Amino acid sequence: MPDPISPKFLATAVQAVTRAGAMQMAGIDHLHIEKKGTIDLVTQIDRDVEKMFRALVGERFPDHVVLAEEFAAGGDRRRQAEYTWVFDPVDGTTNYAHGLPIFCSACSLERDGRPIVAAIYDPSRRELFTAERGLGAWLNGAPLRVSSAGTLIDSLLCTGFPYSVQTDSGYLLNLFGDFLRRARAVRRLGSAAIDMAYVAAGRLDGFWEVKLNPWDVSAGALLVEEAGGRVSALAGAPFDSRTGEVVASNGRIHDEMVEVIRSRSRTE
Ligand code: IPD
Ligand code: CA
Ligand code: CA
Repeated sequence: MPDPISPKFLATAVQAVTRAGAMQMAGIDHLHIEKKGTIDLVTQIDRDVEKMFRALVGERFPDHVVLAEEFAAGGDRRRQAEYTWVFDPVDGTTNYAHGLPIFCSACSLERDGRPIVAAIYDPSRRELFTAERGLGAWLNGAPLRVSSAGTLIDSLLCTGFPYSVQTDSGYLLNLFGDFLRRARAVRRLGSAAIDMAYVAAGRLDGFWEVKLNPWDVSAGALLVEEAGGRVSALAGAPFDSRTGEVVASNGRIHDEMVEVIRSRSRTE
């Protein structure tokens, strides 16, 4: 039997993302925006929030590892410790930089590579999504449940695109087209963590994306599972936050989503 999950873990995750939200809202009107790549932005708030988080974990859990977006070192993705905090200081930075209110901060604690605690906070709507492995998922304290849609044609799906999309778009656009033709509708909101929280909340029926980072998906994966949904790699293999690909659904449409993905060759 693994050790029980300390209540300090969820309390820390919640503190981290709500503090992040306060910093995001305080900074939104006077952002200092830089480019990490042609279309990949970073703001001073991304960096300040991550510094706050690293200090918080360092003070409370000095033997835990932090894997976060802005100051990640090369070897950080390897599993080096029993406990790793996986953190995105701003998920949806492009939206944030444009003043589009679909962004959040996302935090999970992984034990031996599996998320056991998760918190995602959307400060524009004051929505706090939380989950603990084996205990459930909640939105502002109320239990979450995935949707009941049973087929793709009755489903609202969501996806996202990596920052390499301009130079590497063939497969991604083909797959997007495949889902457009099979589902009720497909959205692109611009925050993978919110997308997955919405699958957990039953607002979306399914989500897929490739070339993500662990901090985009780790927290959302636990939310979806604890809300009764299913999470896997693209072709249906077990989910692993380090592989960068994910299908998250209400469970009922999962096999149909995986079948659409398997029918499209990745070399196209
Ligand atoms: C991005 C968002 C977006 C997804 C990208 C991510 P960022 O994260 O989650 O929805 O499509 O692949 O990189 O850069 O805003 O933290
Ligand atoms: Ca992100
Ligand atoms: Ca980010």
